[in-house]
Amino acid sequence: MILEGKRVVLGITGGIAAYKAVDLASKLIQAGAIVDVIMTEAATRFVAPLTLQTLTHRPVSLDMFRLLEETDMTHIALSERADVIIVAPVTANTIAKLAHGLADNLLTATILATRAPVLLAPAMNADMYANPATQANVRTLKDRGFFIVGPAHGRLASGRVGWGRLVAVGQIIEAARQTLGREGPLVGVRVLVTAGGTQEPLDPVRHLGNRSSGRMGYALVAAARDSGADVRLVSAPTALSEPYGVEMVRVRTAEEMHREVKVAIPQTDILFMAAAVADYRPAWRATSKLKKGEAELKLSLTRTPDILESVAMERGTLGKPGLVVGFAAETDDLIKNAQEKLARKRLDLIVANDVTAPDSGFEVETNRVVLIKPDGAIDRWPLLDKAEVAERILKLVAEMWEEKHDEGNA
Ligand code: PMT
Repeated sequence: MILEGKRVVLGITGGIAAYKAVDLASKLIQAGAIVDVIMTEAATRFVAPLTLQTLTHRPVSLDMFRLLEETDMTHIALSERADVIIVAPVTANTIAKLAHGLADNLLTATILATRAPVLLAPAMNADMYANPATQANVRTLKDRGFFIVGPAHGRLASGRVGWGRLVAVGQIIEAARQTLGREGPLVGVRVLVTAGGTQEPLDPVRHLGNRSSGRMGYALVAAARDSGADVRLVSAPTALSEPYGVEMVRVRTAEEMHREVKVAIPQTDILFMAAAVADYRPAWRATSKLKKGEAELKLSLTRTPDILESVAMERGTLGKPGLVVGFAAETDDLIKNAQEKLARKRLDLIVANDVTAPDSGFEVETNRVVLIKPDGAIDRWPLLDKAEVAERILKLVAEMWEEKHDEGNA
């Protein structure tokens, strides 16, 4: 949602990865951004301006002098109204020009004139990227506050493998979101999120698990990052790709998750415990694969630590985290069970979801949640995309965080 209605200037420079900028423009438009494309002359050799114009429904800017006649599309107009400028791909040549403050085409002139944040996604031959001149230029730009995403390591157009690939389009979008949110309500706030379902091994090939996909937790991670927070994610196994711009620790079992949460707590201001943590694990773990036999196999289970309960105990002594948000996955008596967990785990907020509904809870893209606070306030939200649920939760929690600070300063 952070890209909705935002004015993005998308610069495209002349490298083979320019064709990927077409997908980037399309994804930005789908996210609700208003996209003005500026292409260098070399970029037009790789992709047709008409392709970008068709996708963005806006004229593509190419020539500095011709466009000076059109007051709406000059480098000054473009630079002033941009919320963010993204250059993808950015070549070694354009990086060098930007590092030296050149303004010899519409794109470099626009960037020199802008106060908006600039995000660069380099893509080039591995030797060009490794060249000390390029490395020094990249360092200069970082020092001046440019945001840089990538390049990635992988197969390059030459057939060689190395550093120089344009990062995935999804990652550029995430980097743009983070750039836009850099002055959000949670700047300087350290957020810890747990996500996914823990797995409790039975033997080397089997485990007890649950249906959590990690979607809800990862959506919270993105929303917290886009609110300006420094985010750490402790993730149980999921099929999701690693979120951009956060510190991530992978764990498997409830005990491993407990250990990582304990390590992070002294540096945590707000904890979101969205992981589905196993309450029991096999009491005994076979060292080799269990063989089937004629007889029934009985499993003995033992309790895992309750992470939130132990956080509640530490809070008393450490005073951290300042806010703790738990989730409740319920199949019956949603409100009553969630209220009981809110009190027992001494939470500031509990997000309850009915996991029996086919469009809510585990695995699916949507969720229908009820938020309950210790003062008894109950807020029922309609069925929403998990990304929207996460953004609304973050908005509410940012307000709670501010109130807490105002109280502390009063
Ligand atoms: O991952 P998705 O597919 O997107 O699904 C999202 C979700 C349904 C997993 C998520 O919205 C959710 O409800 N997460 C919490 C699941 C859960 O374990 O609920 P619970 O009611 O069993 O636990 C209550 C709270 O205590 C939770 O915050 C849980 O993280 C925490 N807990 C539970 C057990 C345990 N041993 N330690 C804990 O800290």
